[in-house]
Amino acid sequence: MSVSFDEQAQMRASQPALASQAILEVEDITIAFGAGGGGGLIAVDGVSLNVHSSQTVALVGESGSGKSTLGLAVMRHYRASKGAIRFRSADIAAFDRARLKAYRRQVQMINQDPYASLSPRMRIRDIIAEPMQAHGMYSAPGERDAEIEKLAAQCGLPAGLLDRFPDALSGGQRQRVAIARALALRPELIVADEPTSALDVSVQAQILALLRGLKDQFAVSCLFISHNLAVVRQVADEVVVLLSGRVMERGSTEDLFSSPLHPYSCSLIEAIPVPDPDAPFAFNAGKARSSRRALISGCPYTDRCAFKTEICTRKVPPLEEKKPGRWAACWHAESIKLKPGQVQ
Ligand SMILES: Nc1ncnc2c1ncn2[C@@H]1O[C@H](COP(=O)(O)OP(=O)(O)OP(=O)(O)O)[C@@H](O)[C@H]1O
Ligand code: SF4
Ligand SMILES: [Mg+2]
Repeated sequence: MSVSFDEQAQMRASQPALASQAILEVEDITIAFGAGGGGGLIAVDGVSLNVHSSQTVALVGESGSGKSTLGLAVMRHYRASKGAIRFRSADIAAFDRARLKAYRRQVQMINQDPYASLSPRMRIRDIIAEPMQAHGMYSAPGERDAEIEKLAAQCGLPAGLLDRFPDALSGGQRQRVAIARALALRPELIVADEPTSALDVSVQAQILALLRGLKDQFAVSCLFISHNLAVVRQVADEVVVLLSGRVMERGSTEDLFSSPLHPYSCSLIEAIPVPDPDAPFAFNAGKARSSRRALISGCPYTDRCAFKTEICTRKVPPLEEKKPGRWAACWHAESIKLKPGQVQ
């Protein structure tokens, strides 16, 4: 007896053994561009993270911090020069053609730009059908159309739009199409690279609500990439803060927002607009800005950090578990005690 994709999703969500198992393990990954032999740019530098079943892990950091590079490495568009990426315990670097095809069904990507990511000459119905056709799914007459209509409804797309072209859709509707297409293969993991940053704020909120709902409905895990901590707070279970390709802090979303351990996390939280002028996080370590990675001998946050001491410029702070489940790469994380409301 065959099991439908919806039943598979329900089974995935209800199995305690699978629920506790990391489906994606990124272990000490380094990705370099350009000249070899140390002359190139290290975009990702020794990053480790896990994504568990039905979990959303956010990768957050300013422009150039290596977020997309890491996301593309998970899709196996880039190869790591060091470390390993494992999907359900299998090293993705070792996948042959057939296994890679299967992997690209299990792991889907949603990109930032809903205008560029949809072919203007295809009807919405065909855009969603394309991956199904490529993987030979729902080939019985009528079955594919029924599935497309169901997916469209689940993603909040009116059925009347299915026979239109992308030009006729708003930005939010196009992103819903991109999400429906990504879900068409019932993936286990979605890599969402800035999926709402090209959208108006009100539309952003709708798409984030949709992604939150779909996570439970489809039992899908998500690596959610964003430069915006305010957005991350709405969707992520865990947050990994990147700067210059390195992890600065890692922890549950709640912990990270209530008691950030790293001055850089604090500055990102501070950059979130708050209506209350007496709001917390008076700490000011300089606004987030793009940082092309120069040769860094110490902490990559040194040039902006109000707490730096001599060791910070000299030695790279290791990423350490400072409290249970709370990781930070800062020489002084324990002593500076960044807390909401603390005035520095
Ligand atoms: N294909 C490439 N060739 C050379 N350098 C690259 C390539 N892709 C990215 N880089 C460089 O690697 C670094 C990390 O880039 P990446 O796109 O991963 O950052 P990001 O965090 O996604 O930034 P943004 O928020 O602007 O999207 C940057 O310095 C970037 O210029
Ligand atoms: S290691 Fe030093 S420079 Fe880096 S964040 Fe900590 S205190 Fe600041
Ligand atoms: Mg990017």
